[in-house]
Amino acid sequence: MSQTFTLRQLGASDAAAYRDLRLLGLRSHPEAFGASFEDEAARPQEWFAERLASNAVWGGWRDSAPDLAGVAGLQVSGSAKARHKGVLWGMFVRPEARGTGLAAALAGRVLAHARGVVEEVRLSVVASNAAAIRLYTRLGFRPYGVEPRALKVGGEYHDEVLMALRF
Ligand SMILES: CC(C)(COP(=O)(O)OP(=O)(O)OC[C@H]1O[C@@H](n2cnc3c(N)ncnc32)[C@H](O)[C@@H]1OP(=O)(O)O)[C@@H](O)C(=O)NCCC(=O)NCCS
Repeated sequence: MSQTFTLRQLGASDAAAYRDLRLLGLRSHPEAFGASFEDEAARPQEWFAERLASNAVWGGWRDSAPDLAGVAGLQVSGSAKARHKGVLWGMFVRPEARGTGLAAALAGRVLAHARGVVEEVRLSVVASNAAAIRLYTRLGFRPYGVEPRALKVGGEYHDEVLMALRF
């Protein structure tokens, strides 16, 4: 399916749409994210506005639908010794927009930004998440380790694959 998208960096004024999509992701895929739905659902919209104002988060819209359809961000440590690497985080595409190329386009936009600010991008992904691992591999990420029992969700442990892309 070929679709066109609008991609741009999100700001504080996108907080309501970002909050809705973020909470949908946390609720429907609790094992895919380090953060939990319960923690973030309790946060007011201003908290999400502050996150967007102080973090590099991109959003994507399908030209065929008005709702924010996907998000991904880059986090860079403030510490002088860790500033050479960034973390690709919060990647989520709403179900009806999957398989369209939006996920790759969003991640590509984050990586294009990352090239200007860090030497390497890392991420962690639950070992059973075949679609995400395939996406990241296609973008050039390679595994460098596995964290056993990285997340515990509803009493069940999930290993995470650690991946990196060095520029
Ligand atoms: C991860 C995510 C962003 C990927 O978006 P997407 O639109 O599904 O991505 P694509 O359709 O481009 O699929 C990526 C690749 O995985 C493949 N794939 C899709 N579903 C798959 C599955 N169940 N098993 C194996 N491979 C799968 C696709 O064929 C594609 O590979 P290809 O380019 O070689 O054909 C999306 O699935 C999502 O939001 N998932 C829930 C949240 C999440 O897991 N986030 C990642 C946290 S690290």
